Amino acid sequence: MAAANTVLAVLALLLGVSGVIRAKDPYLFFTWNVTYGTISPLGVPQRGILINSQFPVPNINSTTNNNIVINVFNNLNKPLLFTWNGIQHRKNSWFDGVVGTNCPILPGTNFTYHFQVKDQIGGFFYFPSLGMHKAADGFGGLWVNNRLLIPVPLDPPADDYTVLLGDWYTKDHTALEKTVDSGSNIGLPAGVLINDKPGKDRAPMFEIEAGKVYRYWICNVGIKTSLNFRFQGHAMELVEMDGSHTIQNLYDSLDIHVGQCFSVLVTADQNPRGLLHRDLQLVLEAQGADRHYKNIQQY
Ligand SMILES: *[C@@H]1O[C@H](CO)[C@@H](O)[C@H](O)[C@H]1NC(C)=O
Ligand SMILES: *[C@@H]1O[C@H](CO)[C@@H](O)[C@H](O)[C@H]1NC(C)=O
Ligand SMILES: *[C@@H]1O[C@H](CO)[C@@H](O)[C@H](O)[C@H]1NC(C)=O
Repeated sequence: MAAANTVLAVLALLLGVSGVIRAKDPYLFFTWNVTYGTISPLGVPQRGILINSQFPVPNINSTTNNNIVINVFNNLNKPLLFTWNGIQHRKNSWFDGVVGTNCPILPGTNFTYHFQVKDQIGGFFYFPSLGMHKAADGFGGLWVNNRLLIPVPLDPPADDYTVLLGDWYTKDHTALEKTVDSGSNIGLPAGVLINDKPGKDRAPMFEIEAGKVYRYWICNVGIKTSLNFRFQGHAMELVEMDGSHTIQNLYDSLDIHVGQCFSVLVTADQNPRGLLHRDLQLVLEAQGADRHYKNIQQY
């Protein structure tokens, strides 16, 4: 009996201690006011999902062991959930944000997500998981950096860049939802977006300096199209995939399927335009990986 009591006391002490350690992990707090707004990423005005009136919606940049607390106010006219694609919810599944595990956040109400990012160092993304909400955007990057005491098998890059790739439909998401619900095919997308921008304007997206190494955190946030991308004239060194560090091979182009994320290092050691500018511009091309999808765009 005495022994059992001692064991219990030790257990209580351990639990208490671990509780104290957990409480020390930093918190990131967010308040998201989710509304509809008019967006026109392909030049066609359509209904999109905004967070705090912003489009594109924010990325979350976190570090392992961070506690993430997001108070979501649903000001859409439909139930809403956000899911954290690829994030392991190790302690419980009640904040995973998929229907069946979570009750949808009803219009006019709010719900607070609370989860901790643990030993998954890499790039992920979040998106609204109900209906065809994802076709109205509302997706953003969720980066998990290493704490300084955790070594990673790559040198710190000169800068980090976010690359959210995805097919895009200009039809309203509720029309797409009806099509899917009636058992029909939603057909080919209207285009491919990179960070919610089309390729047409050819505006510089990433500033790079000759000779430096940059890390690109890339996710396919689309609906159904596998994409192939490359940086014109440059090799990519794959360093991480869905939160695991990889064998570091060089690739000219990579296929990325819906829901996948990886990060690559690119050294600005080529000049794709043959110009001797100090600041180079990388060109990113995305196209359907099945090669049947012809909407090739340059960024
Ligand atoms: C959310 O945004 C809408 C539209 O801008 C505004 O009317 C509403 O008061 C906001 N709600 C909260 C909780 O901030
Ligand atoms: C809703 O938001 C209020 C005000 O920020 C907060 O006190 C409350 O805990 C939230 N409710 C839920 C269910 O998250
Ligand atoms: C995230 O924050 C870290 C510092 O904690 C910074 O080094 C890094 O560049 C940021 N990443 C992105 C993608 O903004």
